[in-house]
Amino acid sequence: MIKAITGTKDTLPSDIRKWHHLEELVRNVMASFNYREIRTPILEETALFSRGIGESTDIVSKEMYTFIDRSETSVTLKPEMTASVVRAMLEHSLDKQQPLNKLYYISPMFRQERPQAGRFRQFHQFGAEALGGTNPSLDAEMIIVAYDILKNLGLNNITVKINSLGVPSSREKYKHILKIYLNDKKTQLSEESRKRLDTNILRIFDSKEANDINIMEDAPLLIEHLDNESLEQFDMVKQILLAVKIPFEVDARLVRGLDYYTHTTFEILSSSVGSQSALCGGGRYDLLAEQIGGRDIPGVGFAAGIERILLACENENSFCLPDDFIDLYIIRVDKELVAKTNELALLFRRKNLNVEIDYLNRSVKAQMREANKLGAKRVIFLGGEEYSAGKVVLKDMKEGNQQIFDLNNIDEIINNL
Ligand code: HAM
Repeated sequence: MIKAITGTKDTLPSDIRKWHHLEELVRNVMASFNYREIRTPILEETALFSRGIGESTDIVSKEMYTFIDRSETSVTLKPEMTASVVRAMLEHSLDKQQPLNKLYYISPMFRQERPQAGRFRQFHQFGAEALGGTNPSLDAEMIIVAYDILKNLGLNNITVKINSLGVPSSREKYKHILKIYLNDKKTQLSEESRKRLDTNILRIFDSKEANDINIMEDAPLLIEHLDNESLEQFDMVKQILLAVKIPFEVDARLVRGLDYYTHTTFEILSSSVGSQSALCGGGRYDLLAEQIGGRDIPGVGFAAGIERILLACENENSFCLPDDFIDLYIIRVDKELVAKTNELALLFRRKNLNVEIDYLNRSVKAQMREANKLGAKRVIFLGGEEYSAGKVVLKDMKEGNQQIFDLNNIDEIINNL
């Protein structure tokens, strides 16, 4: 038996309503904040991500699905959307059509990570990117949009953490200070963190090793070394969040796994999903467009993991979707009425009713059982004496009452459905 590839997952019909519910909510909330949908290809040139996300990040150095295609081009299944959205904006000069582009997406992503609960190799994100503005209202808006969607899904156990990574010049100065602090502790660090000393020193804050955590407890923090402009920008984001009453914590140790961030970064975590607790993450990336070879266009955005969010909803029992139902099941009483059953079903279906018939030559009793299983609100019995007299019986499955209708008068039947 050929099975699905490790870390990928089928979404079966029994689960799809949760996805539809979430996607509809995302579309509605995005529309109310005036974000417009963008779709980009699954495949991109590898350089887009290595330049955009950063060579030394885990995503680029260990996790990308990269291969050489038949025309000798190195291509990658997109591990995230931000670089792709920025590329599309530059390629189609969206910034020349309007100065600020507010875009959203719902899309599969690919990262070859070790699969575990809430972590997959093909997973799905929804997210938003606002390109063309440096106003802190946009940074705050990302947090507000993400928070509102999670709250609307009924999630309670969530925490918003925010931080500022400032601008590269203050960050470089700070990295130097951090390096001096870590210099005489090098030998006590884990092997992974020792490597990061030279490649991506900030990520040492992310280490799960007890010894590293201990050492980083007393480390100097970037936020204490930010320039005034960065502090003012960060302060405004906090003021807006306070005004809209979104609870948040400043976490000076929050570093993100992608290199393109400047200024605000944030994550929303859930205590309902185990170790993979980040439901969403984002931040400002004012230099990304230039890094991938484009014009100087600032941006800010976030992305949220749909599988993780649905897991949190399940664990918090926050979904109360109504049971599945169909409008009508046509029970074929006389076996020979196959064509008539199809004809009748089509008349109702063309009126946008959700109608089912039997395709398995089932007995009347078995058809009735099937109608119940599908949650049919009503059934029509087609056959018997009524049919000979040009009529059908319509039964209301909840109330149990029956009515007889003229078979030629479909509109009257529809009025009674
Ligand atoms: P990220 O933090 O890498 O950010 O991913 C965002 C979210 O995607 C995570 O918080 C998590 O919920 C979900 N996620 C990531 N990896 C996996 C996985 N292997 N399995 C399941 N879910 C996963 C970004 O992707 C940035 N592009 C966010 C952004 C947008 N920053 C600015 N704009």
